Amino acid sequence: MSFITITNLRKSYQMGRETVHALAGVSLNIEANSFWAVMGPSGSGKSTLMYLLGGLDRPSSGQIQVGQQAIESLDENALAVYRRRTIGFIFQSFNLIASLSALDNVAFPLRFARVPRRQRHARAYELLVRVGLGDRIHHKPTELSGGQQQRVAVARALVNNPQLILADEPTGNLDTASGTAIMELLSDLHKSGRTVLVVTHDPRMTSYATHTVQLLDGRIVSETSRD
Ligand SMILES: Nc1ncnc2c1ncn2[C@@H]1O[C@H](COP(=O)(O)OP(=O)(O)O)[C@@H](O)[C@H]1O
Ligand SMILES: [Mg+2]
Repeated sequence: MSFITITNLRKSYQMGRETVHALAGVSLNIEANSFWAVMGPSGSGKSTLMYLLGGLDRPSSGQIQVGQQAIESLDENALAVYRRRTIGFIFQSFNLIASLSALDNVAFPLRFARVPRRQRHARAYELLVRVGLGDRIHHKPTELSGGQQQRVAVARALVNNPQLILADEPTGNLDTASGTAIMELLSDLHKSGRTVLVVTHDPRMTSYATHTVQLLDGRIVSETSRD
């Protein structure tokens, strides 16, 4: 049984008189606890696919079934609940809140889940320890290296215990060693039962992945699985 079924997914943008087909009919079956490396040149539709899957944007047509839910037909409130309960999103640019400590950045999403402050901090601390930053919890983003900031972002993505981790070029702004650390963290999440999709240009990621998919001009041009 698939955890996620994507059927003929399309996303078009109208740019003046021109229509850009960011996704031009993508279909995928994603099993629970699989690890996907999504590859392809710039402009091939990788981020668009991640945004649609994460409920950050809506498709022009097609279906995205996640568990029992048809994501494309959720209203704004249901979509917000879907994002909060099911998705952990990691961005290339970390997207941390500059004025908050690592601890408060990680705890931040729990505000919307109405978790008491003490519990929010305990959970955030546990996750920062897990990503190797137990000694950096009071540091602000500017006081951390790029690799450390991305580890904070990984901890934040995990705070609601999401089933599905989406990472859009998470190692794109990192040096090789920091990038390897992030790949290994994502691999650990996969091994602990999560479903993980990672957009990457780094061929090393495919050695961690169970599946690799190549996009070109909004279409899947190759799909390989390890087993
Ligand atoms: N908000 C937008 N408005 C217009 N065109 C967009 C928008 N977002 C993406 N596109 C276009 O859609 C295509 C796919 O973009 P994207 O998914 O960001 O590709 P990738 O992440 O693979 O680099 C590109 O041609 C891009 O210019
Ligand atoms: Mg992109």
